[in-house]
Amino acid sequence: MKGLVVFFTRTGKTRKLAEAMASACGGELEELREVGIHREGIGGWLRAGRDGMRQRTVTIEPAARRAADYDVVFVGSPVWGGNLCPAVRTYLKEAGGDMKRVALFCTMDGKDDGGTFASMRSLVASARVVGELAVRGRDAGDAEALRTRVADWIDDVRRAAGA
Ligand SMILES: Cc1cc2nc3c(=O)[nH]c(=O)nc-3n(C[C@H](O)[C@H](O)[C@H](O)COP(=O)(O)O)c2cc1C
Repeated sequence: MKGLVVFFTRTGKTRKLAEAMASACGGELEELREVGIHREGIGGWLRAGRDGMRQRTVTIEPAARRAADYDVVFVGSPVWGGNLCPAVRTYLKEAGGDMKRVALFCTMDGKDDGGTFASMRSLVASARVVGELAVRGRDAGDAEALRTRVADWIDDVRRAAGA
């Protein structure tokens, strides 16, 4: 399975999950970066929550890899205001139509993804969704437990993808 793991992170938890996935499936990593937006400090935190809830898009740096070149594109976001973050929303709007199969993931502090996966699914309507994984941010800190959980999930994704 040729995998691409695309993600955005503000404080590093979604990156830890993305790295565990890339390592488990031998895939490549693509970190999304916003252009001209500051997410640091209390002002950045408030802006992030508002942008997530209002389902905003932003300008992101151009992706280095083409989604169409991969069997499965893994796409991950932190949950912001019960939804996906603007950088991932923008990426899916721009590249979602090129994806054959998609596996979705998110990290959050609460108990579930809220409306994150539903929104992501609506943005990749032409692709087949072959997995969803929501991980509490604090669980991303336990590297060994995360590795095992992700390895099991990647096996399920491989089977669902038939790749
Ligand atoms: C502005 C903002 C809004 C958030 N909203 C939610 C939320 O609605 N539900 C939730 O469970 N976690 C929420 N969180 C917590 C993050 O989803 C969680 O800390 C996540 O793991 C951070 O990922 P990151 O380290 O990759 O940025 C929010 C965090 C921020 C900064």
